[in-house]
Amino acid sequence: MPDQRARTHRRCRLPCGEFDRASGCGRRDGRTLAARSANERSLKLSTKLDLVIQGGIVVNADHMQRADVGISEGRVVALGEALGDAKQTIDAAGRLVMPGGVDTHCHIEQVSGNGLLNADTFETATRSAAFGGNTTVVSHAAQHKGNRVAAVVKDYSALAARGAMVDYAFHIIVSDPEVEALEALEALEADIAALATDGHRSLKIFTTYAIRLSDAQILAVFALARKVGGLVCIHAENHDMIQHAVRRNLVAGNVAPKFHAQSHTRLAEAEAVCRMIRFSEFLDQPIMLFHISTREGVEAVREARARGAKVFAETCTHYLLMTADVLDRPGIEGAKFVCSPPQREVADQDALWEGLTRGDLQIVTSDHAPFRFDETGKLNKGKAPAFNEIPNGMPGLEVRLPLLFDAMVSRGRFDACRFVQMTSSRPAQIFGLRDKGRIAVGADGDIAIWNPKRQVRYGDNDLHDNVGYNPYAGRTVTGWPEIVISRGETIVADGQLLAGPGRRIGSSWNLASKGV
Ligand code: URP
Ligand code: ZN
Ligand code: ZN
Repeated sequence: MPDQRARTHRRCRLPCGEFDRASGCGRRDGRTLAARSANERSLKLSTKLDLVIQGGIVVNADHMQRADVGISEGRVVALGEALGDAKQTIDAAGRLVMPGGVDTHCHIEQVSGNGLLNADTFETATRSAAFGGNTTVVSHAAQHKGNRVAAVVKDYSALAARGAMVDYAFHIIVSDPEVEALEALEALEADIAALATDGHRSLKIFTTYAIRLSDAQILAVFALARKVGGLVCIHAENHDMIQHAVRRNLVAGNVAPKFHAQSHTRLAEAEAVCRMIRFSEFLDQPIMLFHISTREGVEAVREARARGAKVFAETCTHYLLMTADVLDRPGIEGAKFVCSPPQREVADQDALWEGLTRGDLQIVTSDHAPFRFDETGKLNKGKAPAFNEIPNGMPGLEVRLPLLFDAMVSRGRFDACRFVQMTSSRPAQIFGLRDKGRIAVGADGDIAIWNPKRQVRYGDNDLHDNVGYNPYAGRTVTGWPEIVISRGETIVADGQLLAGPGRRIGSSWNLASKGV
């Protein structure tokens, strides 16, 4: 296993990604910053900049450097030193200036697979995302039985335009492809082709829940995605294996939340992940496997990628930082942590970290799937629901980046560049969000200014979503996004929200293309 900490620069011999003020070296490939600075200075504009972020360390996926960032009309227009006058200046001395987080897996204002509406609106979810250092979210436009996907995307777009405070894009959930009815399939093809022309090129399918597709339907969706150059995201768990285990547990009177994890057997993930990979290879269609949670899942992805399969994969914050014992808290408390796939074991966490280190898994998302811990959400089937009556999902948009910065950077697992890569740059790249995930001239002015030393202890109900509990209450993180800037506008500063709903000022539709 390559050890990030052991790699050093050829020139300065610093650990990869660390910036050395004396030598000016901060590049992963060992080149100095001198040449870079000269170029950057020449980018100075004659007109007054809207905003200059001064004196910070700018962190991108491939290098970090001491530089000022100039922003005008929502875009980065200058990067270097002495950028000149600006209408506004932010002093970032001692801070890391990083691209805003890009969270490409969340559920917002969505009717979930079991028919229940999420607790968050676009307003509350994106507010929460912004407080957590994110400037782009990709949520789901969910087709349900009988809906035309064109109408579904239109509806979700209207909700997002009304509420969103950061940029957004959608995965189109296809749950009713009607492969038997040629006319209906033709209508779906026409919709998907038109949406793809508009830039919506990420489809999402499930192999479990009521909205699951049959193998024949999945193949039809893959073929359709291939025609439009799309990417297919997949929730891959074998439904029948899970239902078999659920029934067995219920018959035995095993109804507590901890039996959720046992019923979602790791083999159900392994089976569906391997099957989806083979479908992808069969039709030469790129896929993104959502929320890999097991060692077997990581291994399947690694082997597939080694064969040259066009397979991307993510894991989520909670699989790295929680184990299944959270479901066994006293009473019904474990319901707060019920999500699918469920949290696993320490050995799985080790495999996930190794998978991230090696690049088998490319990104870490939140899978923010919010339900309140009351009769509107987790307890909608009563005060003591059986594990299979508890809606699946947890809030995660706001905590993802601070938890991961702490786990990756503050604890020395990876450098800040790799953190940016896995939480912002690669997600943007894989989903074709071209102006996101980097601080470079021409990119959107989406920036989070982090205090790498600030320590924060999470409380019971301190998030800015509409969920009412923090699954990580009691944990202390080191590293905090203090100022968040979206398209050049400061939307969060020192714990204050400065933006309103519907402030999104441009589109960032998915532009995913084959073989990214
Ligand atoms: O438990 C989860 N993750 N719920 C959200 C729906 C999904 O599985 O993606
Ligand atoms: Zn899922
Ligand atoms: Zn999800």
